[in-house]
Amino acid sequence: MRVLLLGSGGREHALAWKIAQSSILEELFIAPGNAGTKQHGTNVDLSPSKFKDVKAFVLENNIDIVVVGPEGPLVEGITDFFEADSELSKVGVIGPNKEAAQLEGSKDFAKKFMARHKIPTAKYGTFTKDTLEAGYAFLESMKAPYVLKADGLAGGKGVLILDNLEEAKAELKNMLADAKFGDASSRVVIEQFLDGVELSCFVITDGDSYKKLPEAKDYKRIGEGDTGLNTGGMGAVSPVPFANPTFLDKIENQIIIPTVKGLRSEGIKYKGFIFFGIINVKNEPYVIEYNCRMGDPETEVVIPRLKSDILDLFEGVATNTLSERDVQFEERSAATIMMVSGGYPEKYAQGKQIFGLNTITDSLVFHAGTKSDGPAILSAGGRVLAATSFGKDLETALKRSYDSVGKIEFDGAFFRRDIGQDVL
Ligand code: AMP
Ligand code: GLY
Repeated sequence: MRVLLLGSGGREHALAWKIAQSSILEELFIAPGNAGTKQHGTNVDLSPSKFKDVKAFVLENNIDIVVVGPEGPLVEGITDFFEADSELSKVGVIGPNKEAAQLEGSKDFAKKFMARHKIPTAKYGTFTKDTLEAGYAFLESMKAPYVLKADGLAGGKGVLILDNLEEAKAELKNMLADAKFGDASSRVVIEQFLDGVELSCFVITDGDSYKKLPEAKDYKRIGEGDTGLNTGGMGAVSPVPFANPTFLDKIENQIIIPTVKGLRSEGIKYKGFIFFGIINVKNEPYVIEYNCRMGDPETEVVIPRLKSDILDLFEGVATNTLSERDVQFEERSAATIMMVSGGYPEKYAQGKQIFGLNTITDSLVFHAGTKSDGPAILSAGGRVLAATSFGKDLETALKRSYDSVGKIEFDGAFFRRDIGQDVL
């Protein structure tokens, strides 16, 4: 099978690493990729959002399957573009179409979908600049803290949690009337605050059946003890100790099954990964968000735990035969620690040479933001790389990853030292 993987982060390096192990892989291309993905295939200088360029490459290189890593091209309709083009109709796309990707692309769409299918989630209201006064009244009817969410994609920055009513009203006005997040905040979802511990669950679906992947917990804040600014994710562990079989069954029965069935019953064709952002409130699961792709850095622990051939699953998705495919998982625990550029998620320096990568023997090093410069590897982003390790338990996996991170150096490197500590 000839595969084109779109994206350039740690998620895509982990996917490339896994795809490269497939017994049915003929050739793998990654667009645009990074210095890490190059170890597993050919990087192609191609922007995933330029669909016509992607088409030309796919035709020239006889690609059978396109795997879409990030949400952007999905929400922009890359899957629809492929389906509508007769020259591309035989190419399988792993990733939902534009309508289905609204689960991530519009918070209001996701909330209405959950309401229709009685999927547990926080109470909410949706407002526009014409209903600003009603938005204020809704805020007044709620208790602090106040949760405001830009409806559209805002690069993970579109959620504000505020303790004070006046501040919440001011931010609501900022978002709606003053376009704080541009078009993304032309609608705002105001939500009841849910107090609990979060985890991420994943399935892959062909639209009819689905296979569960292992759950994971990521660490979004820059600072230890979950303090400071939100980031793309500073580390992850899998499995998640508090997610016992009873809790995971509740997630499957109350959330996963109604979601997959609900999509199908509405005639929404969903092919690809569904990411369920779950919060555990007194042992009951609620959906915080859906994403139409795998998580990052969750992929860096979930995909290494997949023992089965990932291309076999992708072929199952593309040909609607996922139910016939076998999925096996690694019993061992996995932990990943993200090394980031000093200053991230605010201003940070790039282009710093990374040392020590060749000394790592006990971990997988997934590149997130890197580039090659001759034989040297340089940082090229906020999140630079993730060190993933297995262990008989989480403690062992974490210790191995921290030992590896200790051997990798670049100017200004930063990482959190408390990943996984809260769930041990
Ligand atoms: P989202 O982009 O929807 O995942 O939201 C970003 C983060 O905001 C989540 O990971 C949660 O930590 C937090 N959050 C979102 N919605 C709520 C809510 N209703 N109650 C409490 N925290 C929330
Ligand atoms: N780690 C959270 C995300 O990928 O959105």
